[in-house]
Amino acid sequence: MESRKQSHHTRRRRLPASTADALLTWYDSHRRDLPWRAKPDEIADPYRVWISEIMLQQTTVAAVTGYFGRFMTRWPNVSALAAASQDEVLQTWAGLGYYARGRNLHRGAGVVMEQFGGVIPRDPAQLITIPGIGPYTANAIAAIAFGEPVAAIDTNAERVLARLLAFEQPLPDRRRLLAARADGLVPRHRPGDFAQALMDLGSAICMPENPSCSECPLSDWCYAYRKHETHRFPQKKAKAARKLTRAIAFVATDSVGAVYLVRRPGNGLFGGMMQPPLTDLAKRFPATEHALSRAPFRGEWFRKPGIVRHTLTHLELEVRAYVAHFPRHPNGEGVWLSQSDFESAALPTLMRKIISHALR
Ligand code: ADE
Repeated sequence: MESRKQSHHTRRRRLPASTADALLTWYDSHRRDLPWRAKPDEIADPYRVWISEIMLQQTTVAAVTGYFGRFMTRWPNVSALAAASQDEVLQTWAGLGYYARGRNLHRGAGVVMEQFGGVIPRDPAQLITIPGIGPYTANAIAAIAFGEPVAAIDTNAERVLARLLAFEQPLPDRRRLLAARADGLVPRHRPGDFAQALMDLGSAICMPENPSCSECPLSDWCYAYRKHETHRFPQKKAKAARKLTRAIAFVATDSVGAVYLVRRPGNGLFGGMMQPPLTDLAKRFPATEHALSRAPFRGEWFRKPGIVRHTLTHLELEVRAYVAHFPRHPNGEGVWLSQSDFESAALPTLMRKIISHALR
């Protein structure tokens, strides 16, 4: 009975337009200066907004900033990006994670050139047809780059709204319902600022733990705050445990310390990125003989003591390394990468960890 009553109230709760006004007033004096953001007197560059929104998916502003600058220097516009090779894009993406984003972004640049005459569209229904752009990102680009009056609710903004409304439904499952609740609140004259103000408020004040409610411009409107229940929101569905996944890596070195690398095929995990030869990811480590039958070359492989551990959103990875030395390069389809070229290679953080563990 009680829970029915609560969800009934959640459904009816509405925020008045004055909430958006108070938020925008706060934003005018507290907005973060971010490299992809137009200054108040500037016109937003849709290309910069697009690239930044892709990089910011599941990734913090702090982690993105350096990558964004390097990306813009290398490919300042969509035609430059479309003319790049996928490998060049993945090199620049290396270390940022979620490599499907880099692959899709590169494909997306091709689609913008071919389907949209090189002009990034402003309509979310068209934006969403571009690889890598989902419902959130389509709305974010439309609102921030073009001033389209749509709600763009990222995880930070979601937390703010969930608290304002004391939204009892679990996230991310009921994310669409929550976002729909924000639709009526988007001010038609400043939709992009509204979206980014929610994000900035979520990051500076309405933090996941111990929000600074005494400094919040919206506390007068906040149902969670009034009920002293900010800690209860957003309601979250229990996450599935990460799956433990194991593999063996073969780290071959030559007389100058170069390491043998192959390109990982396909579009799956780390697809298109460089790696030392690796057995298939599996629940258990393969037995020694089986593992050695997968080595790229015959040789004196010895097992490096210890395990490399690496955590991804859905996976807990454990990798053992076998190491062997080859003063003369055996024949193989891969490349021998010298230590001085490591920096610029399309090597995910996991692969760097494996190599430095093996060579330690
Ligand atoms: N997260 C996603 N998009 C963002 C933006 N435009 N500014 C700050 N954080 C963000």
